[in-house]
Amino acid sequence: MMKQREHFGNRFAVIAAMAGSAVGLGNIWRFPYVLGEYGGAAFILVYIAASLLVALPIFFAESVIGRRSRLDTFGAMRKLAPGTAWKWVGLLTILSPLLILSYYSVVGGWSVEFLFKALSFDFTGASTEEEVSGFFGRFISSTWQPLITHTLFMALVAGVVLGGVKKGIERFSKVAMPLLFVLIVFIVIYSLTLPGSMAGVTYLLKPDFSHLTSQAYAAALGQAFFSLSLGVGTVLTYASYVKKEENLVASGVGTAICDLLFALIAAFAVMPAVFAAGIAPESGPGLVFQTFPYIFNKMGEGMPIVSALVSATFFLTILAAALTSAISMLEVGVAFLVDERGMKRRTATLVLAFSTWLVGVLCSLSFGSLSGIKLLGLSFFDFLDTLCSDWLLPLGGLAFTIFVGWWMSKADVRDELTNGGTVNVKLFRGVYFLMRYLAPVGIILVFLSNILL
Ligand code: PHE
Repeated sequence: MMKQREHFGNRFAVIAAMAGSAVGLGNIWRFPYVLGEYGGAAFILVYIAASLLVALPIFFAESVIGRRSRLDTFGAMRKLAPGTAWKWVGLLTILSPLLILSYYSVVGGWSVEFLFKALSFDFTGASTEEEVSGFFGRFISSTWQPLITHTLFMALVAGVVLGGVKKGIERFSKVAMPLLFVLIVFIVIYSLTLPGSMAGVTYLLKPDFSHLTSQAYAAALGQAFFSLSLGVGTVLTYASYVKKEENLVASGVGTAICDLLFALIAAFAVMPAVFAAGIAPESGPGLVFQTFPYIFNKMGEGMPIVSALVSATFFLTILAAALTSAISMLEVGVAFLVDERGMKRRTATLVLAFSTWLVGVLCSLSFGSLSGIKLLGLSFFDFLDTLCSDWLLPLGGLAFTIFVGWWMSKADVRDELTNGGTVNVKLFRGVYFLMRYLAPVGIILVFLSNILL
């Protein structure tokens, strides 16, 4: 017997929750440094194309499976393809978001630490530059402090998930997302007033196509996957809470636009400041965490209060974005344990949060005391990150899009995407074509480039 399933209240709530999952460290921390590594404006164009032509169709595919089944990823595959091996895809996509969460929570913890630092004026008026720019390296390689902030971050995530879909996730996302938007626009404006920042704007607007190697295409698609939370059952699970009357295509497009917008705004917040400070845009994953304290310190010479406020705002923004994403990763597993194992929501949340936290402890320590332990030549943190973003996400996305494009009947897919022939009827053929052909081919290309390059 099916229990009454919780629902998101309305379209705004659906988009706020889905965009809350999509917008996260992927947009604010990852997008600026990846785009810096691949040369700026030209990469942005490829990224936009990848998001709309390949990632968005997969988003629709996951939405179809989720709302059609109204179940967690494992239950969904078992219900829609009974007695087949598809349920293992469902199981894989319960494990992968938990794996991502384990190291994501460590990075979320870094933003907690940086927020504390900003609030206590540590980034302003430091006596030497080394004190500020070297802080990141010293912090992540220490033992206790990153563990404490990782614990804090995970506790926050579990706290919201414990509240349930309506009271927890929905209420939290509705407040956090608009707040995030206001905060980051404020930072863009601030960034643009810094002397020398216009070089960063040119960098973001004037394409140089010589940087577009095949790796850049792969990186753009991988980033689109990570950023839209695809291939790990998150979209599927959230879609299972979407009402039958809701327009799935419209919610998907709304979410993708929010996600793109946040990524672009983040780039405009970060790059002008990077150029103003004379830092190389290709500095890598440390770009945000290493560059900003350095910049805020420079800014703080003379105006410590403003600098402390701007930096605190910035890290608060990152923290809010990271939280709504992390919540969605935990929710996938919680939905599985509640739906399939009949576990209480509270028990499921605590069990999963604790086990994920434990794996995260190893990730955190792999920057310091466990740095000697390597898996395939990588530290534990890097190994998990590579495993997830290069392999598990595209693999999950490929499976979902093949399932919807080739396994489910066209009539069922049509019924779900057009709400029984009442909306998007004219759009359907195009959307179906993208899900059936363009998206799988795009993902296979990413796989090939990962294997061959
Ligand atoms: N999209 C999130 C971000 O950009 C990360 C994420 C990946 C969330 C997979 C859920 C599932 O930070």
